[in-house]
Amino acid sequence: MEACGGAFLILSPAPGFPLERPLKWIGTVSKEAVADGGFARLAYPPFDVLVAIVDGEPVAIEDACNHAGASLVEGDRTGDGRCVACPLHGYIFNLRTGALVEPKGLCGPQRAYRAELIGDEIVVFDDFELTLL
Ligand code: FES
Repeated sequence: MEACGGAFLILSPAPGFPLERPLKWIGTVSKEAVADGGFARLAYPPFDVLVAIVDGEPVAIEDACNHAGASLVEGDRTGDGRCVACPLHGYIFNLRTGALVEPKGLCGPQRAYRAELIGDEIVVFDDFELTLL
């Protein structure tokens, strides 16, 4: 890894690690910290990232609700555990995709991030596009 503006860019991934786009490392959460169905928050200003496990797979979406900014980490699971209900107004977001489930059309989706289980750690990355000017 190579330092780049306070973050890390993975330029040479481990063999077998999928890398079709550049990734920025956001942080890690121990699998145990969310194994009971809870949520963890990773600092990633300005909106931070909610990390959880859904159907055995790690997931990560933007934490600050895009309706009015409440922390979804403080919300409750719903929809068979595959969604989170915002603690402020109850909007429901899909934890895997970040899509707004209900009410439809009142705000956009939460941004979803790449979450990989590596050993006992959930490692979260931000995919981004490189634009060469
Ligand atoms: S702040 Fe989340 S639904 Fe309003």
